[in-house]
Amino acid sequence: MQELKNAIRERGKVLSNDVLKVDTFLNHQIDTELMALVGKEFAARFKNDGITKVLTIESSGIAPSFMAATELQAPLIFARKKKSLTLTDNLLVSTVYSFTKQESNDISVSKDFIQGGDRVLIIDDFLANGQAAFGLIEIVEQAGASVAGIGIVIEKSFQEGRKNLDDAGYRVESLARLHDLNEGKITFVDELVS
Ligand code: G4P
Ligand code: NA
Ligand code: NA
Repeated sequence: MQELKNAIRERGKVLSNDVLKVDTFLNHQIDTELMALVGKEFAARFKNDGITKVLTIESSGIAPSFMAATELQAPLIFARKKKSLTLTDNLLVSTVYSFTKQESNDISVSKDFIQGGDRVLIIDDFLANGQAAFGLIEIVEQAGASVAGIGIVIEKSFQEGRKNLDDAGYRVESLARLHDLNEGKITFVDELVS
């Protein structure tokens, strides 16, 4: 998606060989116009897949998924993050390990909001190691619902997540794919010269 790639190049900041800072439009300040375009692009890619629910995770997944859900005329649900959950009776819960933070967190969704028969589009801002995506998949599958696919705003293709989701047979639609961030330079997968 060209507008997104322009924003990443012009307004993103490479912090290291594996971290891209996008606080100017996605993770702190939100460029609402760009996020509306992002959401519309997800919706266009999944418009024929019978999506009944859009599922994301707080907090940075909410903005890019809002317009997708609007266009698909489906409710938007965000999984909640909490250190450890005790009252889990009415909750779908999975555990997500963050390599970045080196800690595990439970994520949860009320059973009231995803049910058997739902066809769910999962959306997140970043795909790194895929822990969040697999946690959301587990929640959908616990509910007896099915995963239509995973929409990602920025995929770091040099980390494991994309490959692991492909290997597990899930459809992944990433709007920008980073080949690498080496030497402070942003290289997209589709711009590689071979
Ligand atoms: P994974 O789910 O793919 O395995 O990723 P990981 O544990 O490494 O990610 C932990 C947090 O860091 C997530 O946000 C994720 O979106 C974010 N993240 C991963 N790589 C990058 C990156 O290169 N740049 C930026 N800006 N963020 C990255 P979170 O802690 O869940 O926070 P929130 O922003 O959704 O509240
Ligand atoms: Na996120
Ligand atoms: Na984030």
